[in-house]
Amino acid sequence: MSASDLVAAARRAREHAAAAYSHFKVGAAIETADGTVFTGCNIENATYGLTLCAERVAIFKAISEGHRRFTRVAVVADTETPTPPCGACRQILWEFAGDIEVILANTERATAHHQLRELLPHPFDARLLE
Ligand code: THU
Repeated sequence: MSASDLVAAARRAREHAAAAYSHFKVGAAIETADGTVFTGCNIENATYGLTLCAERVAIFKAISEGHRRFTRVAVVADTETPTPPCGACRQILWEFAGDIEVILANTERATAHHQLRELLPHPFDARLLE
């Protein structure tokens, strides 16, 4: 799958966003090492704090289906400037996917590319528990 196909999957997922409170719709698509793609959208809640970001929905779907190796994630929001994953999502992505490529895009075009290591330069992870 090309990067633009992954972004297209994230754009489609964004359409399912349950963003009744923020009205800020986000879609994500994560590619596994075997080329399978899992998508997610943000899912908000009246308590606000129980909101799940699109990135975590996507990776948790993949984890729960038995996938443990990932290559890239695309994140789409309707913003001119790139919308990067929040801190909690960076931590979860690092835990399960490590230093993957992060493609940021809006409804029209890709807006930025990063490695997760750039976005989370001093990660806390299992190595520190040894
Ligand atoms: N959100 C995501 O789903 N992913 C991001 O990368 C940034 C923020 C969601 C959470 C909340 O539903 C809304 O966007 C506003 O913060």
